[in-house]
Amino acid sequence: MKNFVAGIVATLIVFSFGGWLYLRLGYADLRANLAQSWLESQLATTALNASVARHAPMQQNPIAPTDVNLLDGARLYRDKCADCHGRPDNPISDYGASFNPRAPQFMEVHPRLRENQDFYLVKNGARRSAMPAWGNIMTDSEIWQVVTFLNHLNDLPPSVQQELHRPAGSNP
Ligand code: HEC
Repeated sequence: MKNFVAGIVATLIVFSFGGWLYLRLGYADLRANLAQSWLESQLATTALNASVARHAPMQQNPIAPTDVNLLDGARLYRDKCADCHGRPDNPISDYGASFNPRAPQFMEVHPRLRENQDFYLVKNGARRSAMPAWGNIMTDSEIWQVVTFLNHLNDLPPSVQQELHRPAGSNP
């Protein structure tokens, strides 16, 4: 039994050291324009989703989906997010697709997290990815407005849809 345990510990040490050596000697290919392996993308997506699910405080969206809030959310999205996540006239952003992990294209696949999780992720950003921590730049109410907008992509009033077609920085 003692030898068995010692064998397991020795194997773990060899594997950890081997992994460290692999990284230290530069064998890992970290180019952004190299497709992720299935394992890497599964591990990264699972880790991000699980971390957001565990850490996002359970809170209700304090912002009602009124036309005014959706319009403000659309402007914020158009000006701060659309370059990476797409807009109606550029639904698959080359820029967003050039990151690794890629920025999800919200005009094609709408966000599928709960609102409190979207709020947490947008406010705090995602480590080792291009997703910024918007809490450093936007107020909580602005983040809720953009989250509300993202959760109503299926049923946006026409005036809000039009706003997405106007150039970045346009204000009424
Ligand atoms: C510079 C590029 C960039 C900008 C600008 C950007 N994002 Fe992201 N975003 C990303 C990337 C890359 C990911 C994927 C992160 C990952 O998988 O680790 C992401 C992920 C997300 C996710 C998680 C989606 C999911 O389903 O897992 C949400 C929500 C999101 N972004 C919202 C926003 C909002 C809202 C803004 C604007 C306020 C914004 N992003 C601006 C690059 C960007």
